[in-house]
Amino acid sequence: MSVTAIVPAAGSGERMRSRLKKPYISLLGQPILLHTLKILDTVSDISHIIVPVYPGEEDLCQQQVMSRLSLRADIDIIAGGETRQESVRNALSRVADSCELVLIHDGARPLVSRPLIEECTAAAQSKQAATAAVPAKDTITMVSSADQTITKSLLRDSLYIIQTPQVFKKELIVAAHQSALDDGYKGTDDASLVERLGIPVTVIMGSYTNIKITTREDLLFAETLLKNYFFET
Ligand code: CTP
Ligand code: MG
Repeated sequence: MSVTAIVPAAGSGERMRSRLKKPYISLLGQPILLHTLKILDTVSDISHIIVPVYPGEEDLCQQQVMSRLSLRADIDIIAGGETRQESVRNALSRVADSCELVLIHDGARPLVSRPLIEECTAAAQSKQAATAAVPAKDTITMVSSADQTITKSLLRDSLYIIQTPQVFKKELIVAAHQSALDDGYKGTDDASLVERLGIPVTVIMGSYTNIKITTREDLLFAETLLKNYFFET
């Protein structure tokens, strides 16, 4: 099976409020993005990894991350876009014809495990589209921005928090991104672009440790997890 991994890393990390952009922030002495790439590279089906980075910072990524890694897979660092969706779309245009599955995994999720990557990949191979997700632990509600009151409480039993990896048949994810572009649809992940085509996306049980590093306290949590848990590689 030929899998290309797209690792969006072109965000500016505003919620992190850090001088350094998020992919280069140190997690136990190594850039966040380096941890993420290392684990993806342990999956033997992944033969090509495309990393969209903040436009103009391709050399920085090369120096800060790639030069400290020796990867089995072929790597392409490319310019990302203004949104995550645009960054992924840029990367999709670089996927080889021979590729069967496209795996998309946030550069900011360095604690993903190899079994979860493999499970999502296997599910996409048989069912076209799969994403990792975990059941919501908290009650989730919609709040009106007009007067800051609750407009709708949602039933927790059917609510999941979407994670990555998300894996798709190549033709499907290319079509989903094209359709979103044509319709001006903006989503915050790739599974939602496939869902709007009416194609079911299989949900694989993710992990509460597969956090996305988004705000400063996430770094503390990630460091504690890395120090205290055994992550299978
Ligand atoms: N991302 C991207 N291109 C963008 C925006 C985001 O490739 N234009 C990537 C980020 O680098 C990150 C992943 O998408 O690895 C998830 O995005 P998020 O956690 O929101 O990161 P940022 O957009 O960098 O953070 P913020 O929203 O706080 O600015
Ligand atoms: Mg963002």
